[in-house]
Amino acid sequence: MASPEPASPLILACSPRPGGNCDDAADLFAQALGQGPGFPAPLPVTRLRSFRIAPCLACSACAQPDPSLAWGCPQSARDDSAPLLRALAEAPALCLIAPVFFYHLPSPLKALLDRTQPFWLRKTPFPPRICRVILIAGRPRGKKLFAGSLLTLRYALISLNIRLADPLLLRGLEAPGDLISSRSASQAVLDYGRQAGSCS
Ligand SMILES: Cc1cc2nc3c(=O)[nH]c(=O)nc-3n(C[C@H](O)[C@H](O)[C@H](O)COP(=O)(O)O)c2cc1C
Repeated sequence: MASPEPASPLILACSPRPGGNCDDAADLFAQALGQGPGFPAPLPVTRLRSFRIAPCLACSACAQPDPSLAWGCPQSARDDSAPLLRALAEAPALCLIAPVFFYHLPSPLKALLDRTQPFWLRKTPFPPRICRVILIAGRPRGKKLFAGSLLTLRYALISLNIRLADPLLLRGLEAPGDLISSRSASQAVLDYGRQAGSCS
């Protein structure tokens, strides 16, 4: 489990499937972003599946935080969420790469977002930041294919003062290797990473 570097951009690949399309997209994005000025190339990619993320229990312990627990959360003593929550709090820029699972985010990413509840409850002040998003779906069409994922990301990240950039939405990528073997999809990810590098 390689924890994200505190001051470096957080590139978080969120699929449970190793070697799938999100992993490939995250590597391409990191490669393209790393070519931007001021970035140490190659940039590290953090794989969410390497971390155990326990669910928010809605216990409200974080409202009266115990300072011995990371973010005042009892679940932080039982899982690996602390370095990821720290990266969400401190990373100067972020990119989340996630598959669509039943029209939404995969459960480990949703669990991580639910665990940002201490920031929401405490109205912690954060500097304004931008999060790029790459969503990957197997279905080639569907008007609302990405709607659920985008809604959750947009609202969950507000408490961290993170705004979503225009997302990159990729369809029709089902099996591992589909993204890499699609010239247009790979190029779209590289362009998205280069564009992120030139605006940072
Ligand atoms: C549990 C599960 C649910 C899925 N639900 C959807 C879905 O609702 N719509 C869709 O287009 N693709 C769906 N897919 C397909 C994935 O989005 C697609 O295979 C994607 O490329 C997976 O990314 P990965 O290779 O990084 O794991 C689902 C896949 C799984 C395993």
